[in-house]
Parts: sequence; structure tokens; C-alpha cells
Amino acid sequence: MAPSYFLAPIVDSSSTFKDDIFKGKVLFCTGGGSGICKGMTEAIMRHGADAVIVGRKADRLAASAKELSEKTGKTCIPAQADVRDPKSLKDAVQKTIERFGKIDFVICGAAGNFMAPISGLSENAFRTVIEIDTLGTYNTIKATIPHVRKSKGAYICVSATLHYRGTPYQAHVSAAKAGVDAISNALATEEGPWGVRSNVIAPGFTSGTEGMRVMSGNKSNTADGFSNPLGRFTEIPDLANAAVFLFSPAACYITGQVLPVDGGGEHLRGDFFPYPQSVLDPSSIQKLLKGKL
Ligand SMILES: NC(=O)c1ccc[n+]([C@@H]2O[C@H](COP(=O)([O-])OP(=O)(O)OC[C@H]3O[C@@H](n4cnc5c(N)ncnc54)[C@H](OP(=O)(O)O)[C@@H]3O)[C@@H](O)[C@H]2O)c1
Repeated sequence: MAPSYFLAPIVDSSSTFKDDIFKGKVLFCTGGGSGICKGMTEAIMRHGADAVIVGRKADRLAASAKELSEKTGKTCIPAQADVRDPKSLKDAVQKTIERFGKIDFVICGAAGNFMAPISGLSENAFRTVIEIDTLGTYNTIKATIPHVRKSKGAYICVSATLHYRGTPYQAHVSAAKAGVDAISNALATEEGPWGVRSNVIAPGFTSGTEGMRVMSGNKSNTADGFSNPLGRFTEIPDLANAAVFLFSPAACYITGQVLPVDGGGEHLRGDFFPYPQSVLDPSSIQKLLKGKL
């Protein structure tokens, strides 16, 4: 009988990193009012940082800031801004400086997504996603960089893996995220000599998020027909752990990198034989293999 399919555990960053690695640090996070970026913010606060979360919906931001403060014992404040509007981002940065006096870490995570074919996508819809994801990332970096230089801090841009291949109905997001990766790489080389690092986290399909709802109609973690090397969809703690590591001193020599957090799914070309059955039980495809098992 073939061994059962391994499922990667879901672990919390506090099982690996000390509680106080971010003591005295300040995080500025666009998209921090919900989903993945809220989870990253919570993890970074649990290790001692205060935070400012940025988004357009004031009510949701305020509720999330309160929840994050209560859960972590640190301070999180909301700053309403649209990342497409440099002026509103500058105001959010100003609010951060007035409250905390500095910015050490920035997560550029605000994004929009929907499914649409190129043939049916309007120019406006395409432009909107580029404006939120790509221009929004640029605007966020531009508004924060004097402060991040001062603190010799670090950036994480939240991208995707969609653009590594041709993902149908995602031309707009793929183009936008390719731009995000490029901005982060350039930022790493321009700002490295000032002591600033920049890396990208590229989530796989992440359970319980808006992105997952849009792309798959909320598949569960054990969805039929889903397979990847580590056996499950991405979970928010997987991404939060990556963010904690990349901001931590342990990553002080890592910059200009793109880190897919997708259980190895991006590398899988399993269309020719059943996966993972064929690697758990090679005898099931004996006829295709040379050599002894
Ligand atoms: N979920 C996935 O499976 C997946 C996979 C790959 C990559 N990602 C990436 O991960 C990040 C988080 O995604 P998520 O699924 O967690 O989605 P989400 O909960 O919808 O997060 C997106 C956030 O961006 C904010 N936002 C959108 N437009 C904005 C604007 N113009 N100005 C300021 N804030 C804006 C939203 O807040 P407001 O609406 O209040 O503005 C929201 O908090 C995104 O960068 C996404 O592309 C997700």
C-alpha cells in the first residue's frame, strides 16, 4: 500500500522566533485591514512591533486595528488612504510619524483581483488593477522611503505566482504583479547601499482569503483534485512566518529575492501521471520507468 500523502503542518512564528525580535519597531502595511496582510501584521506585532494599517474602508480598518491591538498587546492604528493617491498615502505616513516617530518595515500588500478574459476585459478594468497593485506599490515606497532609510529598515512586496506561467483570466493581475516584482528588485539594488532591504513574498492560493474566493469559489483545504508537493493550500500563517523571517535580523543579508510560499506547487509539472500517487507508489507507473524500483 502506498504511504499516505504528507500534509505540511501549520505553525505559528512564535514556535521559532523570540517574542521581542521587533521590539521598538514600527510597521506600515497597505492592505493590512484584511486577509493575508492582516495576518502578517498580527504576526509582526506578536514579536513586539507597533503597526499602522492602510486601506480605503474606514470601518473595517478601525475594527481590524482594534482587534490586532487587543490580540497582541501592541498598538495598531488605522490610516485611511487609497494607494492610487500619493497625497492620501503621504497623509497616512505623516499620521504614522506623528504617532510613532518612525517607520522600520513596510508591507506593500494592497491589491485588487477579479477573473476576466483578455477579450472581455475593459481598458479601465485592466488599468485599475495596474494602478492599485503596481502604481500603489510604487506610491507606497515613494511615500515611506525617507523614513525607512533613516531606520535602515526593510520592505516586503506581496506579489503572486500567477505570472510565472500563462494563467488564464489573470492577464491584468499577472502584468501588475510582474511589475511589483521588478520594482522590488530595483529597490533592493538602489537602496541596499543605504541599508534598506526589499524582498517579495509570492503567496500560493491561500485558504480563507478574498483572493481564494475570487479564484476558486472557496475551495476547502482538501479540495478534490488539488495536489502540490506539500499537500495543501497556502495558509495565512505560512505567509506570516515568511514575513517575520524576512524582516528579522536573520535575513539581514537577503535582499532582492522573490519567495514563493506555495508548498512547491509552482514547480509541479504533474500532468503526465497521477500526482502524488506516482511518487508515493512508483510501481503504479512501473511501465513508464526505466531501472529497478
Ligand atoms: N489570496 C490569495 O490566494 C492570494 C494569492 C496570491 C497573491 N495574493 C496577494 O496577497 C495580497 C492580499 O490578498 P488577500 O487575498 O488577502 O485579499 P484582501 O483581503 O482583499 O486584501 C486586499 C487589501 O487591499 C486593500 N486595498 C485594495 N485596494 C486598495 C486601494 N486602492 N488603496 C488601499 N488599499 C486597498 C483592501 O482594503 P480596502 O478594500 O479597505 O481598501 C484589502 O485590505 C494581495 O496583494 C494579493 O494580490 C493573494
